[in-house]
Amino acid sequence: MIRQNDFFQGPPAAHGAAPGRVNLLGEHTDYNDGFMLPTATPQGTSVALAPSFDAHFVLYSATLDQEVRFAHDEHAPPGFGRYIEGCIRGLEQRSVLVPSLRMYISSDLPVGAGLSSSAALELATLRGLRRMLGLALDDVALALIGQEAEVHYAQVNCGIMDQMASSLADSAHMLFLDARTLKFELLPLPLQTALIVIDSGMPRTLAASAYNIRRAECEKAAALLGVPALRDVSDPDAVEKLPEPYRRRARHVVRENARVLRARAGLSGPDFGSLMNQSHASLRDDYEVSIPALDELTALLRLEPDVFGARLTGAGFGGACVALCRAGQAGAIGRAVVARYNRAGRQGRLLIPVQPT
Ligand code: GLA
Repeated sequence: MIRQNDFFQGPPAAHGAAPGRVNLLGEHTDYNDGFMLPTATPQGTSVALAPSFDAHFVLYSATLDQEVRFAHDEHAPPGFGRYIEGCIRGLEQRSVLVPSLRMYISSDLPVGAGLSSSAALELATLRGLRRMLGLALDDVALALIGQEAEVHYAQVNCGIMDQMASSLADSAHMLFLDARTLKFELLPLPLQTALIVIDSGMPRTLAASAYNIRRAECEKAAALLGVPALRDVSDPDAVEKLPEPYRRRARHVVRENARVLRARAGLSGPDFGSLMNQSHASLRDDYEVSIPALDELTALLRLEPDVFGARLTGAGFGGACVALCRAGQAGAIGRAVVARYNRAGRQGRLLIPVQPT
């Protein structure tokens, strides 16, 4: 691993940092113009950057111990450089002159566990560039550029939740977000509660293809209902008359939006947890993005008396589960559940609360 001081041969010009996200409620609602309640992870990604000594971008990931180089008029090779290039191109499209850069990236955010490490990388990069170049771009503008980078350069047709959460949330609050207006509010977590996040250890292999199929199904369902987006469904009974699979897809989105609005009003731990359980059942049965490992893990979490509710978090098909539990219990419950889950040969890991190493 190259050390930051050796990489720059002097102090860097600027730094940027951003967290990942855990979505507590409101899954697969963002691309339906709906509502969601993510929070930020305590883990995150940081970048240090400085103008480069030549005409190349030189990006070094300390986490991967990998360097990529590309000229100003070239594309970054596939991999982490693509997300950074996407951010640079997004700024250039907004008439920002971005010089060639050396950038040093480090992260304690697990990659591939569904905590949006790519959004954290995009937002850390954009914050670093905003500082270095003195750009007058607000946090919502940065989230939009990050999302464009993900869609165009990393070819994932994602919604806006991950980048908005990385840009605007903190780990002491949940971010209520309206994906249509991009209005947001920071809300407290339910009183006397804490979060547990466990990586299922299952790679999200089907996630990209299934994600795009679900998106298309939702668009078709909205068209059949004659509304611009599923967010606009005012009569839930109309959804029940749709042919399958549109009926169940739309039902998930309509009910999930209603759950978020209920939670936004302020709920106790047990009431919030019960919405999380309903959300998981809906993602499993109606939206069909769960897998047996995620069902197993959430079931093990729910067996704990101090757990109020548990669900898969993120796109599904692998990745992590989130649970809400009584304050003060998260570490002990998390460790016990991971041990039980791994007894069947699985590779679970406790991600939150962060364990001392
Ligand atoms: C992924 C996408 C988000 C969102 C979630 C599902 O994380 O990047 O935009 O759609 O899946 O809620």
